[in-house]
Amino acid sequence: MTTRAPREPDLPPVPLPVLHPDTLAVSAGRPTAIGDPLNHPIVLASNLRGEEGAYARTHGLATWEGLEDAVGALEGGRATAFSTGMAAASACLFALAPRVLVLPTSSYLGVRALVNDLVEQARMLVRFVDVSDTAAVVEATDGADVVWVETPANPTLDVADLPRIVAAARRHGARVVVDNTFATPVCAQPLRDGADLVVHSGTKFIGGHSDLMIGLVVAADEVLFDRVRHARLVNGATPGALEAFLALRGVRTLPLRMERAQSNAHVLVDRLRAHHAVAEVRYPGFGAMVSFVVGPPPVGDASMGDAVCRSVRLLVPATSLGGVETTIERRQKYAGDAHVAPGLLRMSVGIEHVEDVWADLAQALDVAAASACG
Ligand SMILES: Cc1ncc(COP(=O)(O)O)c(C=O)c1O
Repeated sequence: MTTRAPREPDLPPVPLPVLHPDTLAVSAGRPTAIGDPLNHPIVLASNLRGEEGAYARTHGLATWEGLEDAVGALEGGRATAFSTGMAAASACLFALAPRVLVLPTSSYLGVRALVNDLVEQARMLVRFVDVSDTAAVVEATDGADVVWVETPANPTLDVADLPRIVAAARRHGARVVVDNTFATPVCAQPLRDGADLVVHSGTKFIGGHSDLMIGLVVAADEVLFDRVRHARLVNGATPGALEAFLALRGVRTLPLRMERAQSNAHVLVDRLRAHHAVAEVRYPGFGAMVSFVVGPPPVGDASMGDAVCRSVRLLVPATSLGGVETTIERRQKYAGDAHVAPGLLRMSVGIEHVEDVWADLAQALDVAAASACG
């Protein structure tokens, strides 16, 4: 029989230096008592022993808390984990209950569908803006309660001037929510620019392996944090324990994965820009998402875009993103993205060897170009 060492009290609090994000990704969200495992276990429990009515949905579980502590440390706020990114987005709208919302036309189509439903139910009004037109966003902020920013935006990769938008929102008493899914906390920490809430589809880069669904909201202050927690409690969109465990494991390598994916993205962007079949490349200069237009300028050609997606062998034609593997998709085929260029392909760059990715992409572009000529 193995005996366990007697438990010792928690380590005395030692002031830590300010840690680099790479270090926080590795070290935040771990148990700290002597004898604890290095990782929070996968706590499969709904019910907790005690007299305070402790229950997973109301009190949380250690597995969720590990993830929340780590993502909160990376973003510079306090995080709450949800079942999906959409649950996290819904919780922000529930917590802030805007009467007037400013929303970018180019943003994740699921969030726009949610907002459209709320507008149809007469629960809010929406003002659509081009998030890269800062003057238009600033103007729309007057009289708004919440400004929703997705930067870089899905799928056009427009970038917002967040400090100016935040300043305008402050002047008009509006809250700012930033969907940071594409940038990840490695490339941007919007709370540090004055945003009130940050939303993540942790399904994407945070999880990083296309094997889970999870969402997170990070709040800048305690009042908003409590409102977001309350939104989870009453709406019940709690994460699974396994998903939270895996997502935290993803966080541990997020900076490393982003470093490799970004370096791959830079090489691919340069080569795509020089390719005769590519009309336009949209890349903000950071992150692992690249969109490009295939076919004649300015909007490319849908059938050429489809031919590229059909012809890739290593790249995966798939809708989700943020995994270790490179995925590619033509977005205008979705009714919710009907406004984007027909030939626009959105690529989530993975961590493979970049020459293998380029060889596959180049042959697929050649097949598509040849089919357009023939
Ligand atoms: C930018 C962005 N936000 C939110 C979501 C929704 O996340 P989930 O699919 O985890 O609900 C997505 C999903 O694609 C997304 O791309």
